[in-house]
Amino acid sequence: MPATSSEAETRGDPPADRFRYTDLHCHILPGMDDGVSSWDEAIALAKNAVKSGAFRVVATPHVMRGVYAPRPGDIKEKVLELKSRLRDSGISLAVTPGSEVYLASGTAREYRAGKLQTIGDAGYLLVELPPLRLPAYARSELNALRAAGAGVILAHPERNRGLCRNLKVLTELLDYGVLFQINAGSLTGAFGKEAQGCAEFLVREGLVHFIGSDAHSGLPAGVSGVGADISEALERLVRLSPSGSAFLDQVEARVMRLLSGKL
Ligand SMILES: [Fe+2]
Repeated sequence: MPATSSEAETRGDPPADRFRYTDLHCHILPGMDDGVSSWDEAIALAKNAVKSGAFRVVATPHVMRGVYAPRPGDIKEKVLELKSRLRDSGISLAVTPGSEVYLASGTAREYRAGKLQTIGDAGYLLVELPPLRLPAYARSELNALRAAGAGVILAHPERNRGLCRNLKVLTELLDYGVLFQINAGSLTGAFGKEAQGCAEFLVREGLVHFIGSDAHSGLPAGVSGVGADISEALERLVRLSPSGSAFLDQVEARVMRLLSGKL
């Protein structure tokens, strides 16, 4: 029997006209970083994601030296618990383990030692850079990661002022094989005008490979740019992209290649 609209709303089912997408960047695991603070909040975040059209989230807790240090085993354990709780709540949302690694001197060494959780164990790391500049060690670490066989996806380049103002560096990163994930909320101004301008530029130039909410809470859409309901931003993204509505299909095809190790 089909669910009534109120039942569907309770579960967070997406309206039929919503985009279907993977949220590649999401702080949905409680007790690991500054993301959601409880399982209840994780479920609230999941409902917002599903309402927005997400069918998969990649759980990406921060890995930041001296601040957060979740190991792959810890992350996988929490993902299993989240899956079980989603099942119990009747929420249809796939969850893939990942992490958001703050690039530091020694990141490549940690990768080689198996201490970093790649997205779906497929060898790609979601990497964050300091907000204001490309640090001196970045090039050598990126080279070392590449030499170690790791792929690199740069989290929200539009929020890094040193990149937004320097197209030469953006191009250089692309030449290193780095792929770009933007925060959908950047397109609706959730992270400021400069990030919005840079995100729009990246979309128009076809330089966006993945999208994420970077949601840190179970709050609804648009609240401080931290919610998982990114439907408004996706509509804007599709309008801006040279590929139009095919853009999200291209991104999803890329996600599938990534998860199957064929990217
Ligand atoms: Fe993040």
